Amino acid sequence: MIETIRPLVEAYGPSGSEDHIRGLIAEMIDGLADETYVDAMGNLIAWKHSANEDAPTVMLSAHMDEIGLVVSHVDEDGYLRFHNLGGLLPATLTGQRVQFADGTIGVIAHEERSPKEKLDIKKMYIDVSADAENGHDISVGDTAGLYRLLDVRGTRLIAKSMDDRIGCAVQIEVMKAVADDDLPNHVAFVFSVQEEVGLRGAQTAAYGVEPDIGIAIDVTLTGDTPKADPPMAVSLGKGPAIKIKDSRMIADADVVRLMVDAAEAAGVDYQREVLTGGTTDAAAMQLTRAGVKAGCLSIPCRFVHTTSETVDLDDVEGGVALLATLLRNAVQ
Ligand code: CO
Ligand code: ZN
Repeated sequence: MIETIRPLVEAYGPSGSEDHIRGLIAEMIDGLADETYVDAMGNLIAWKHSANEDAPTVMLSAHMDEIGLVVSHVDEDGYLRFHNLGGLLPATLTGQRVQFADGTIGVIAHEERSPKEKLDIKKMYIDVSADAENGHDISVGDTAGLYRLLDVRGTRLIAKSMDDRIGCAVQIEVMKAVADDDLPNHVAFVFSVQEEVGLRGAQTAAYGVEPDIGIAIDVTLTGDTPKADPPMAVSLGKGPAIKIKDSRMIADADVVRLMVDAAEAAGVDYQREVLTGGTTDAAAMQLTRAGVKAGCLSIPCRFVHTTSETVDLDDVEGGVALLATLLRNAVQ
């Protein structure tokens, strides 16, 4: 499992610049699907068809993009100003390293060493200076992701883009688990783009796939840290979470029941999730065409949208077992 997770969470791939991470995932799922293609938005869609032509279609979606930034201005000394791609948290940024598509590493700094006012990324810049021979070649429009390697502490895994490469890892492991099964559902495994800027990839992918049931796989917040605000009934290590509601979706009751039944059949502990801020690809899937029954399997994650997003391996493995069991039974 960690061998699957490590390359995914260490890879570059901010919203809109998913070519590299998509290529990496395409290699990892080679041979696991009947049909694989990339749609116009850049979503990677891998189908596993049922022998029963009339079987219902399940769409799973995990987003491959990560929060990042885009260069908006380069000054005469080569310092870069930037704009956010997704929910960058200003208070977590100074001193962080970022990585561009060509591998260039930059450091984010603030104009003032100890700013007294509320942190604003407009007052931050990125240093990519080198020397005359090794100068950078970064221009306006180039994108960067945060840069940090995976660390493992017992069952806790810490990395920069668990959101949502851990969902991608779960989906890949589910594909491996059911590779030799003849499933009673057609399954479209979608690795979506541009989730962090508004669920844009899942919106077109769901229209194209036309699923009967849509399930996102993504991270959710936890309430098990000091004075967590708002309080939340999800903890790390108590199992994957079955979403009931978030800020843009009320999960379909039938999909919640399918997931609960699958958890019980697989012997997986699960938690029920109500998230008051944030959403997932499931919200886009639910509102496609004439509507899709949608839900979300969440991996609890501390410190979301920082370079140290932390998940528990037991929750991840539980998520794989739950989804593989769900796919082995006809959903309708
Ligand atoms: Co996110
Ligand atoms: Zn996410």
